[in-house]
Amino acid sequence: MKKIVIGNWKMNPASVKEAEALLKNVAKNQKDYKNIDVVICVPNIYLSNLAKIKSKIILGAQDVFYEESGAYTGEVSAKMLTNFKVKYCIVGHSERRAMGETNETCNKKIIALLKVGITPILCVGEKTRDESHEYLNIVKKQIESCLVGINKNLLSKIIIAYEPVWAIGINATRAVETSECQEMMLYIKKIIANISNPKIAHSIRVIYGGSVNVQNSLDLITNGNTDGFLVGRDSLNAMKFTKIIQSGVK
Ligand code: PGA
Repeated sequence: MKKIVIGNWKMNPASVKEAEALLKNVAKNQKDYKNIDVVICVPNIYLSNLAKIKSKIILGAQDVFYEESGAYTGEVSAKMLTNFKVKYCIVGHSERRAMGETNETCNKKIIALLKVGITPILCVGEKTRDESHEYLNIVKKQIESCLVGINKNLLSKIIIAYEPVWAIGINATRAVETSECQEMMLYIKKIIANISNPKIAHSIRVIYGGSVNVQNSLDLITNGNTDGFLVGRDSLNAMKFTKIIQSGVK
């Protein structure tokens, strides 16, 4: 399966000029990005400018609202995102879940995105690892609830990003170990197989996110059974992000 590396700029950088420069710098090495999809999920306010830059880098959004239009102050619809070449959109990132996002709203957002042909990147992951392995049930429940009612044939259009909260951002305890990554990737495919069938589970891309960096990316992608990465901090540094992308290039 074609690997995918997705950058999540979060609320960065501070100016549109910096955003343009960062995208161009990542695109500099694009001739090396063979057999790999490279996506950057940017702040919506930069989309208009970034969509004008011609490159192989695909644009993504970090969130969406599930209604099509109407009196929803501050919200942006899936259809609106399509105006700016947005092909992917993160749903249910733990930073948004911390602000009130629920499995139910994630489900509505996924349905809204699929309707307009944008690929949802559904983030799931436990807050902590417990010895009784309750975290496995937490991830299972998140996936099942977020995908409830979605046509089986559309499931393969969704990307699942396993992002354990304890491995994300500056407060991360550590990154996932390769063996843990391998286990979760298989486990998630099994959950998908149970709600659909093995063929669909095989076709869905399951990726890892949380403290992915230049040091761990090659081992994770070679031995961790992952179809790619969701990268936060190191997607803000063109050199580091490029190296992470290259680790996924066969
Ligand atoms: P990080 O963030 O790479 O900075 O840990 C990952 C994410 O939040 O998607």
